[in-house]
Amino acid sequence: MANHPPISYRDYLKIETLLEIQKPRSNEFGHPAHDEMLFIITHQTYELWFKQILTEIDFVLASFGSEKVDEAIMGQAVSKLHRVIAILRLLVDQVSVLETMTSMEFLEFRNYLYPASGFQSVQWRLIENKLGLARETRLTYNSLPYTAFVSEPERDVLLASESQASLFQLVDTWLARTPFLQTEGFNFKVELKNAVDDMFTEDRDKVLGNTLLSDDERKKNIAAVEGMKQTFASLLEPEAFEKLRVDGIFRMSYGAIHAALFINLYRDEPILHMPFQLLTALQDIDELMTTWRYRHSLMAHRMIGMKVGTGGSTGAKYLKGATEGHRIFTDLFNLSTYLIPKSKRPVLPEGLRLKMRFN
Ligand code: HEM
Repeated sequence: MANHPPISYRDYLKIETLLEIQKPRSNEFGHPAHDEMLFIITHQTYELWFKQILTEIDFVLASFGSEKVDEAIMGQAVSKLHRVIAILRLLVDQVSVLETMTSMEFLEFRNYLYPASGFQSVQWRLIENKLGLARETRLTYNSLPYTAFVSEPERDVLLASESQASLFQLVDTWLARTPFLQTEGFNFKVELKNAVDDMFTEDRDKVLGNTLLSDDERKKNIAAVEGMKQTFASLLEPEAFEKLRVDGIFRMSYGAIHAALFINLYRDEPILHMPFQLLTALQDIDELMTTWRYRHSLMAHRMIGMKVGTGGSTGAKYLKGATEGHRIFTDLFNLSTYLIPKSKRPVLPEGLRLKMRFN
């Protein structure tokens, strides 16, 4: 105990320092605006939660950074991502607290902020970079890179985060290493192609045998079946898949996408439970960040209408664009196009199924 002297709540949490740092500028300049305190505290709590999110993401990056991802660590990494999800839910809800301030109340002190803007939130940018938002995907902001609006030391931190492997890249590499897709007596790609061909032949026969359809409707339905068949073929053939990447449907590698599809189709196999949870968590994070961006853009719209932002962007218009434009794990969403019913999946050989069980 000698090394751990008692400490008070106030000292442990540095409460005095924490409560010292809310300084409304409207007070400083002699025109106190009541709601500025709420504005400051809301932003500060967001930044604190951003710090916690980054702590969790760093843990997950370290877990996925090694040559072989330890299975015990994998469970921990997924639980940290679940924590990020819980925080993001809170951050979406928190918007409604700030929305108790009206647009007129905001105008009481908005002028004192210029040219400060959430656009300069280094932690938010770090979250985006570490998760895997690529620089070339970012919307341009007055034709300047996002790094032009922060201080030089902050720029260095952001550039360093861009040059490190992101979670997107690490997950891609990890997925591409997934065993089971090509083992003795089983080639997932070939088996999937056969299963899908059978499925579409069945669909085609159903359309041809449907006497309730007119000739025109029959033609349209057959074309739809052929179109879906072609869509699947693009996923399985390397050159066609490359076109999907060029078109922005997928950003992940050929091998990684097939592994993600395999995990989705056979997620009931015990060894795939955790990988499936990981992929689901990444989708949840993408969806919640998108939801936050959208909520934030609506809040900006109701507060400032069509005015430009304090940081100089087109305001709500820019934010709405970033909502869809800055998504990171869209690959995992687009993959749902290629899911087929359980009853149509290729049957796994018994030897392979046994390998995927823990006993
Ligand atoms: C009255 C409330 C708010 C308004 C009117 C508002 C408005 C804006 C606007 C217009 C932008 C675009 C950049 C610019 O031109 O300034 C922006 C960016 C941003 N704001 Fe807010 N904001 C508000 C509250 C918040 C809060 C509470 C946070 C929490 C941290 C936040 C975080 C951000 C972030 C991270 C960006 C950059 C988004 C991106 O570039 O994708 N904002 N905000």
